[in-house]
Amino acid sequence: MLKLNNIEVVYLNVVRVLHGISLTVEDGSVVALLGANGAGKTTTLKAISGLLKVEEGDVTDGSIEWEGRRIDHSSAQEIGKLGIVQALEGRRVFGHLTTEENLLVGAHNRKERHIIHQDLEMVYHYFPRLKALRHNIAGYLSGGEQQMLVTGRAMMSAPKLMMLDEPSLGLAPMLVEEIYDIIKRFNDERHTSVLLVEQNVRIALNIAHSGYVMENGRVVLDGSADFLRNNEDVKEFYMGLSAVGVKKSYRAVKHYKRRKRWL
Ligand SMILES: Nc1ncnc2c1ncn2[C@@H]1O[C@H](COP(=O)(O)OP(=O)(O)O)[C@@H](O)[C@H]1O
Ligand SMILES: [Mg+2]
Repeated sequence: MLKLNNIEVVYLNVVRVLHGISLTVEDGSVVALLGANGAGKTTTLKAISGLLKVEEGDVTDGSIEWEGRRIDHSSAQEIGKLGIVQALEGRRVFGHLTTEENLLVGAHNRKERHIIHQDLEMVYHYFPRLKALRHNIAGYLSGGEQQMLVTGRAMMSAPKLMMLDEPSLGLAPMLVEEIYDIIKRFNDERHTSVLLVEQNVRIALNIAHSGYVMENGRVVLDGSADFLRNNEDVKEFYMGLSAVGVKKSYRAVKHYKRRKRWL
C-alpha cells in the first residue's frame, strides 16, 4: 500500500506547490488523480517516485510510505528497486532507439537474461502491436504507439505500483480506449496497483476504483469512482456536463466556478 500523509512540496526552496496532499493506493487498486493543468498532479507523482529531487523540488512536510516504510528520503533509484515506476508525461521515448531497445531500458533493475526475456514477452502479450513494431525506430512511431511504448516500458520489470501521467493526452478516442483496456487488463491479471493521472476524467473513472480531485495543490474531493462520476460538480467542472448532459457555456461555468470553492 502507498500512503501519502499531508505532504508539502516546495520547488527551488521557495515555490510551494503542494499544500498537504494525503492519498492512499491500496494494493491491486487503480486510483485516479484528476485535475486541471497546474493542479500539482505531476508533482505528486514525482514526489512518490523520487524524481522531484532532480528538479530541485523537496518534500518539506508530511511523509510518503510504501509497504509501511518511509520512502520520502529515498533516491529515485532506491524507490525504483522497491517496484514503483513512473511513466513520464509527454511520451518521452528514446527516438533513435528501436521499440525493443526502449523496452529494455525499462528492465534496468533486472540482471538475468531469461527474466528480461520474460518481461519482454509479457509486454508483447499485452501490446501485440509493440511486438510487430519491435525493430522500428521509436522516433517514427505514431503518438498512440509511443504511448503504448512508454506504458509497456513501465510494465517491464513487473512493477508493484505503476504510475501513468496523462496517457490519453492528444490521442484519438479509439486509441485511448484500446490503451485503457490494456491497463485495466494488466491490473486485473497481475494485481499491479496503478496511480493514474488524467485530465480526461471520464475515461479515467471508467477503470479506476477510486479517485482524488486536485486543485491548486490541494485535494478538494475524493471517493469511489462511482461517487465521483455521479458528483454534480465533477460532472460540471471536469466533464463539461450539466445535469441534462449538455455542455455548459463558458459564462455559466464561470459562474459555477465561484460556487465550487467549498469543494
Ligand atoms: N520544476 C519546477 N520548478 C518550479 N515550479 C514547478 C516545477 N514543476 C512544476 N512547477 C509548478 O508547480 C505547479 C504544479 O505543476 P504540475 O505538478 O506539473 O501540475 P499538473 O501536472 O497538475 O499540470 C505549477 O504551478 C507548475 O508551474
Ligand atoms: Mg502534469
